[in-house]
Amino acid sequence: EPCGAQRLTASLSPLSTPTETELPAPYGLWMEIASSLPQLIASRQLRSRLHQVPSRIPGVLGQKSMESCKHGKVLPRNLAVPFWEVSQRLGLPPILSHADFVLANWKRKTPGDLSGPRQNLDPIISLPGGESLRGFILVTLLVEKAAVPGIKVLRSRKPAGARVRALPRCCHLSAQPLHREQTDYVDPAVFYSVIRIFLSGWRDNPAMPHGLVYQGVSEEPLAYSGGSAAQSSVLHAFDELLGIRHSAENLPADKAPSAFLHRMRDYMPPPHRAFVEEIQRAPSLRQHVLSSGNGKLCAAFNQCVSALTDFRTHHIAIVTKYITTAAAKAKAGRGEPADGAGPPPGKPPSLLEAKGTGGSHIFRFLKSSLKPSWKEESG
Ligand code: ALA
Repeated sequence: EPCGAQRLTASLSPLSTPTETELPAPYGLWMEIASSLPQLIASRQLRSRLHQVPSRIPGVLGQKSMESCKHGKVLPRNLAVPFWEVSQRLGLPPILSHADFVLANWKRKTPGDLSGPRQNLDPIISLPGGESLRGFILVTLLVEKAAVPGIKVLRSRKPAGARVRALPRCCHLSAQPLHREQTDYVDPAVFYSVIRIFLSGWRDNPAMPHGLVYQGVSEEPLAYSGGSAAQSSVLHAFDELLGIRHSAENLPADKAPSAFLHRMRDYMPPPHRAFVEEIQRAPSLRQHVLSSGNGKLCAAFNQCVSALTDFRTHHIAIVTKYITTAAAKAKAGRGEPADGAGPPPGKPPSLLEAKGTGGSHIFRFLKSSLKPSWKEESG
């Protein structure tokens, strides 16, 4: 299952270079389509090209056959069946996720060249959005990379105290430089009008309230959340380590930000999910720090919490610029994409203005992360 192998290998270890960027011969037609997505979407030829590929790929995929469908929006069988089966084998949902779009979707332009990562990296598969799309994928990838030293500390077998002391030094989740990159390379109008729609899912999305029929898989529509950085295991891991809880007053439990975040774990590669759960099960670090009575340790712990809060504060500023302000400009007719990405294929997805692509209420969700509260420390 070459497609699956690529998707999983790269996502298990974001820093190891994906070695295979092409599928072998039987999948040639798929690669051809995948490599020309921006052009096929712009010329509205994607659906007819998909109808030309077989839904059965020799020896591997597409054994199901079921007639459907009586519902609205449909993913054609030729895409739905193999996508469903690959996703099942990988333990990932059949929708474009953070693991697909960012973790596994990069290659070095010049192998072996370790110069500035953004200059020497390219996405493997692109969507419409030109340089802004490239910038969006690579800056998101750089956030993952910046977290690697911190994740290594989490994985080390050092005693809890040593890990807390090491974290503030190596946990460069410092948001400002990354967000500067984002601002330099991603045009808000392109992000809002062209890119965002491809990350939107069909769950909690007012534009697709009934989900999507996966033709040949299920007669009933299925609902999946769109790609979101909430599916990255990095912040989940730090939150679990520090015992941070995301809560919002006056919301039923199933609408609370913590419920959304928890559900996003189903969109992580299974080893990532297991890693986060392992940290969650470990004895409370906060309790350890508190009962140590060690002021320096407490200060280091608090520095970690502040670093996360700062990161999230910057994230809110970015979201305001790329969604709220961009939506207002698009409405006022001043939001023309400026980097040659071309006009949006449809109308900007204004129904998604108040929602993240994952389906959460943007500001309610993001602001809940700014005032950390703590889990019950029962042991
Ligand atoms: N989650 C990001 C958004 O809502 C990509 O636009």
